[in-house]
Amino acid sequence: MKTWMITGTSSGFGKALASKLAQEEGVNVIATARKEADLDYLDQYDHGQIKKIIVDVSDPQAVKRAAAEALAFSSKIDVLVNNAGLGYFSTIEESDLKEVRYMFEVDFFGLAEMTEALLPQFRANKSGIIVNISSALGLTTLPTMGYYSAAKFAVEGYSDALRQEVADLGIKVLTVEPSGARTNWAGSSSEKKVPEIADYAKFKNMVATTDQAVDNAPGDPALIAQAIIDAVNSDKMPDHLPLGEFAYNGSLDKLRKLAGEIESNRAISLSTDDK
Ligand SMILES: NC(=O)c1ccc[n+]([C@@H]2O[C@H](COP(=O)([O-])OP(=O)(O)OC[C@H]3O[C@@H](n4cnc5c(N)ncnc54)[C@H](OP(=O)(O)O)[C@@H]3O)[C@@H](O)[C@H]2O)c1
Repeated sequence: MKTWMITGTSSGFGKALASKLAQEEGVNVIATARKEADLDYLDQYDHGQIKKIIVDVSDPQAVKRAAAEALAFSSKIDVLVNNAGLGYFSTIEESDLKEVRYMFEVDFFGLAEMTEALLPQFRANKSGIIVNISSALGLTTLPTMGYYSAAKFAVEGYSDALRQEVADLGIKVLTVEPSGARTNWAGSSSEKKVPEIADYAKFKNMVATTDQAVDNAPGDPALIAQAIIDAVNSDKMPDHLPLGEFAYNGSLDKLRKLAGEIESNRAISLSTDDK
């Protein structure tokens, strides 16, 4: 039996992942949500292999309790998917930093708390995969998405360092960078501030229409869930899994531009070391 634990399974990618895995042979599913009733959809698949846990990942004590509950259900968690997250749509200047801090509590510190709570069991078992759901906006960015990108860039940097620290311990880390997909992410899961400062008027429409943009986004949560399952089950799991055209082209454009800029300033870059 393989045990997967997934946070934020009330909707979107988390629900798609939990639904698929709950129908697979030989898989235990630990599904977390903030409200018990949001997990009723799993009952149809339950034959003792499903454990529901209620946790708000922004509460560190609740995360520790959730990890303990998960380990009481299964002493070996093979795959942890840190999926719970929300968006924030505003220009940098018009963002409310109290709300931004809350987003970081969920998107970054919630993921870090859950990972920290489960790392001792991954080390003890000398195996495991940690899947961190980042975003295409963790590799590149867009106006009005600055703080959301900052949280997802934090997930990327954290994951890249963790991957190096645990590589010799049998533990792997996968960051997933989905493009826009049809979930609740831009709806009930996000704060939106349509720009009011005239200098940012050209971004008004971008924030005002995010709900519709995500409703019409090309990304299918079921296909994204399947791509994540396939990557985790493959012998050659990548470190990064950009999903969708925006993630693919957007991240390559960003990286090519960055590489070109760094190369073109080689002399300056190398001029500051004196030994
Ligand atoms: N959809 C996209 O376009 C897109 C693209 C790239 C990356 N992502 C990322 O994908 C992940 C999943 O989002 P989604 O698109 O599937 O959106 P979603 O449908 O809104 O799902 C988000 C999940 O996170 C949970 N969540 C939010 N705050 C939480 C908290 N404090 N504690 C525990 N759970 C919490 C939600 O639970 P509740 O129902 O209780 O709120 C929900 O289960 C997020 O990390 C998001 O940033 C989304």
